[in-house]
Amino acid sequence: CGIIGRVGDGNALETLLTGLENLEYRGYDSAGVAVQNGSGIAVEKRSGKVEALVDSVADDPLEGRVGIGHTRWSTHGPPTDENAHPHTDATEDVAVVHNGIIENYAELRAELRAAGYEFTSDTDTEVVPHLIQYYLDGGADNETAFRKAIGDLEGSYAITAMFSGEHVLYAARQGSPLVVGVEDGEYFLASDVPAFLEYTDSVVYLRDGDVVVVDGDGVEFTDLEGNPVEREPETVEWDPEEAGKGEYDHFMLKEIDEQPTSLAQALEGRIDPENGRIALADFGPGTFTDVSSVQLVACGTSYHAALYGSLALNQAGIRATALLANEYSAAAPPIDDETLVIAVTQSGETADTLNALRQANADGAETVTVTNVVGSTAAREADETLFIRAGPEIGVAATKTFSSQAVMLTLLAQRIAADRRGEPPADLESLLPALARMPAEIERVLETSDAAAVANRYRGSQSYFFIGRGLGYPVALEGALKFKEITYEHAEGFASGELKHGPLALVTPETPVFAVFTGQEDAKTLNNAEEAQTRGAPLVAVCPDGHPALETADAHLEIPDTEPALAGLLANVQLQLVSYYAADLLGRPIDKPRNLAKSVTVE
Ligand code: G6P
Repeated sequence: CGIIGRVGDGNALETLLTGLENLEYRGYDSAGVAVQNGSGIAVEKRSGKVEALVDSVADDPLEGRVGIGHTRWSTHGPPTDENAHPHTDATEDVAVVHNGIIENYAELRAELRAAGYEFTSDTDTEVVPHLIQYYLDGGADNETAFRKAIGDLEGSYAITAMFSGEHVLYAARQGSPLVVGVEDGEYFLASDVPAFLEYTDSVVYLRDGDVVVVDGDGVEFTDLEGNPVEREPETVEWDPEEAGKGEYDHFMLKEIDEQPTSLAQALEGRIDPENGRIALADFGPGTFTDVSSVQLVACGTSYHAALYGSLALNQAGIRATALLANEYSAAAPPIDDETLVIAVTQSGETADTLNALRQANADGAETVTVTNVVGSTAAREADETLFIRAGPEIGVAATKTFSSQAVMLTLLAQRIAADRRGEPPADLESLLPALARMPAEIERVLETSDAAAVANRYRGSQSYFFIGRGLGYPVALEGALKFKEITYEHAEGFASGELKHGPLALVTPETPVFAVFTGQEDAKTLNNAEEAQTRGAPLVAVCPDGHPALETADAHLEIPDTEPALAGLLANVQLQLVSYYAADLLGRPIDKPRNLAKSVTVE
């Protein structure tokens, strides 16, 4: 879900609506705003996309210089007008927007109902305005009532509240992201920076336990008890253009196209091909000398990058396992004082991944977060952080962040192996120049890809299979995930060698098989692919020109010839494009697939 709040001169409504549009990728099944006008708080909220809200306020604009807004992705209660935020108390003295989950809401609601407070929605959030009202009724002033109510909550939240007749916003953070934007005489509160990036690039990242009070004159940062805390603004180097779609129809295609730049940005200053070394100054000398095994935890696309990283580590001679973060608490492999746990998360806010990271920290592992978001929770909670520098990713389906994660993990694997052994791994000499060439090679894939034609040729198939071996395996999994996410067609990824152990039963002339060739054990992969082809399945080979697979393949997606350590990532760009064009042919809402959210902050 997304939160925006604004205090300043002039009218708040437009800023709130733009903020909500910018945040829609965080959740989009309902949206609402509350504005402080002369006579009190005016609320407008609607189920559906932000567009529906924009239409409904067009006839009846809300006037006022202070306001809050929210875009929702349901956790408690279906997406209806009543369940949309902001929520208020019965007299509309208080309006509240909230992200996260209030775990003790049932108990609080029962107590408040017994005390005569009436509820109108199914949400956990609605307890907050009633609880604040309860303290106001008991004689507390606005700020005290807010603090007391926050103190009663259990669970995770980013909350922003405003009170009738006062040009002030109150906000609190516990386990759900919240940032403050600062501009001369204008202040913003939001769950994420793109909400207000066109107005200011000066940002304060709040921490768990922070409470802020914002009025026209400034911001006060305190803890729950009201003791001041020091929070300094940082400058965000994202330009608002970058956060917008530009000339593209979809953020996803824009973000696929950005990969040469985002990858060059990730590699900048981190490799030194001339001197044959990795220059990951993100970590001090010898940081990983004592690491004897690595566990990588992640979800979704980040899990596929983690799997890629674990294979790169194994190939570099370091014991490593990738684990789904949501499975970690049930069956984590043992940790000792030579275990490194790496959390891989684009947003740095995925609840499942944060839980696994916290468990690893508590068990005494050394921890590293690989993330795209500076100031994110996962970045702050790990011992060390590696930023992938991909820039904001708005499309729900991750694309450019996957490439950058996989490349950064490949580098990190080499660095860990070098620290561990005291000397750089032997294959570094060929890997470094290949890494340096990657942005240009991705550019070539983008310029020459036949993905649109391939997508068109196999449209209407019954099912889509993706296979690969070694580092091609996580790429096959990611290819299938992307395809199902945005086309809503059935797709599955397999290790090539596994086809014959079951999935072959599904193969028909209606099930195209996309085979990823990385240059490692390609003959075996080709055998597996041909076993499917013999049963009628069309074979799409993702491989360099002149590859033996092309003798039999029905279609070709070409990639430049490079090191096996990186070939899968070039293949992945082709597969991203196939998914994109297949979804576009079907007219799917590519940037916002049904039922999915960019960042899932609940377990
Ligand atoms: C959600 C998104 C996926 C993403 C996953 C992990 O499910 O829809 O695209 O891969 O979360 O997100 P993270 O921010 O931790 O990488």
